[in-house]
Amino acid sequence: MPSGVRIIRADAPERERLERDGWVVVAHSWGAQLDARACDVDALRRLAMHAEPLGGVRPLTAADLPGILALDAATLHDYPGAEATTHTPLSVARATVSATRVAYGVVDAGGAVVAMTLLDVDLAACRAEVDFTVVARPLRGRGLGTAVKAASVLDLLESGVTTIRTGGSADNPAIIGANRLVGFVVDEQWVTLRSGGAAASEQT
Ligand SMILES: CC(C)(COP(=O)(O)OP(=O)(O)OC[C@H]1O[C@@H](n2cnc3c(N)ncnc32)[C@H](O)[C@@H]1OP(=O)(O)O)[C@@H](O)C(=O)NCCC(=O)NCCS
Repeated sequence: MPSGVRIIRADAPERERLERDGWVVVAHSWGAQLDARACDVDALRRLAMHAEPLGGVRPLTAADLPGILALDAATLHDYPGAEATTHTPLSVARATVSATRVAYGVVDAGGAVVAMTLLDVDLAACRAEVDFTVVARPLRGRGLGTAVKAASVLDLLESGVTTIRTGGSADNPAIIGANRLVGFVVDEQWVTLRSGGAAASEQT
């Protein structure tokens, strides 16, 4: 985290002092939670079906590693927001699935991963946290982002996960829409502040 940046809860008591001292809010972000008890499994199945024309959603495996890395490399600069929601390019280690690192995706007829969501899972705690979700640019807006998230939730609930957390930028209506459809409830608001009045237009 650069020294001139602070990421705090929107209602943090220190926010007023920081803004008085010249720190400027340059971005808003949020956290959200999905609880197994509140899940509508039939609705999740319907959402996952939106990927059927492209072959459906399936868990990604070690064999999908090149496809995962390729989709990540092609979409590195597509994540709205500032430091709180920066997307770090995947390393091979972070792209490799395991018991604690799971991925669900849509793989087209040519073998390319065209949509994926990656999560960190702690089965002992019955919890999972979404790392990120991405869809290949030409296929956005067709329900694929929602489908991979819905399918991941269905599978994780089957594995015993009861709580899933996610988060994102307030400037990202597509992921906000996808999360709302899947049933995530926003329960945290965050702000990113920069010192010395750095302009909002400097966000990446
Ligand atoms: C975010 C992302 C994964 C969403 O996937 P997608 O397949 O394009 O989204 P969906 O088609 O499932 O749409 C989900 C909802 O958002 C809405 N939506 C989609 N794109 C939108 C846009 N550009 N602006 C406003 N709303 C949008 C959809 O209408 C839908 O809601 P609705 O059914 O109530 O109308 C995709 O846009 C993407 O890859 N973005 C770049 C990476 C990123 O920002 N990832 C999120 C951070 S982890």
